[in-house]
Amino acid sequence: MGRVTVTRLLPTGGTAPLIAAGHEVVTNDSDTALSHSALCDAAREFDALVTLLTDRINSEVLEAGASGGRLRVVSNVAVGYDNIDLAAATRLGIAVTNTPGVLDETTADTAMMLILSASRLASEAEADLRSGAWTKSGGWGINQYLGHDVHGSTLGLVGYGRIGRSVARRAVGFGMNVIHHTPSDTREAGWTEDLDVLLAASDVVSIHVPLKDSTRHLIDRARLAKMQSSAVLVNTSRGPVVDEEALADALHAGELFAAGIDVYENEPIVHPRLLSAPRTVLLPHIGSGSIATRTRMATLACEGAVAVLAGERPHNLVVNR
Ligand code: DGY
Repeated sequence: MGRVTVTRLLPTGGTAPLIAAGHEVVTNDSDTALSHSALCDAAREFDALVTLLTDRINSEVLEAGASGGRLRVVSNVAVGYDNIDLAAATRLGIAVTNTPGVLDETTADTAMMLILSASRLASEAEADLRSGAWTKSGGWGINQYLGHDVHGSTLGLVGYGRIGRSVARRAVGFGMNVIHHTPSDTREAGWTEDLDVLLAASDVVSIHVPLKDSTRHLIDRARLAKMQSSAVLVNTSRGPVVDEEALADALHAGELFAAGIDVYENEPIVHPRLLSAPRTVLLPHIGSGSIATRTRMATLACEGAVAVLAGERPHNLVVNR
């Protein structure tokens, strides 16, 4: 049986597939990310690494694994795998797996929560209530915290994969008109080839693309300027898809009405101007954060490692060996 290391504490029961398959499991119980050199050591000493999106599995880590002669698979407990150098994994014959399909609904719930809370200024209103400002001001006022209705508005989805489609289903229930942009024709109602057209037409824009070279700063200063000044931007995908400084500038200047953000360019650092931006709901990357979903993500990642170590081809394979 193999030796498997889990780089951070998983939800209870997360490693069950590894244990059931008889592997030796060594978990970093400290729940803080391993250093680069600790990751290299682990890659040298173990047959499988079960990693989190906070672990940077670059070519050095993978080369350490190849030089140790044991490492066969990196199983990422996330659907995104931009933290792993796929080219190096392919070159070195190390398999990579992820967790597709099990977090779509939970992440779509988070996007919907941000669409609603940003449009209706929930964070600003709650902050005033907690600080006592609302009570001191005399309480309810007819002109306070006036946001935009989501019913009857147009939601533009940038990316239309599993999570984007799950958001679309919810948005229809909230009375929104939904359009989407993908580079190739989905042949479905609401598709537009031109991202700028979608940005100009949408009251709310929600981003659902993976982070790749082609999507880094996809929403840059020029693209933000295409949006209506009454529009809301929501991002639950990856921080670097949006130019965070440009977004903060647009919010401060009133060129955008509001934003709901769950992911950041340099996590866990959040741009100070975004922290101070008005009408902004900021969450600490909790998109898939329900007990059931995070547990299923962990078991799915471990199932991927079990399959590769058994010489099988898991359905959640990103890079073959
Ligand atoms: C993912 O899976 O990629 C998310 O960002 C973490 O839930």
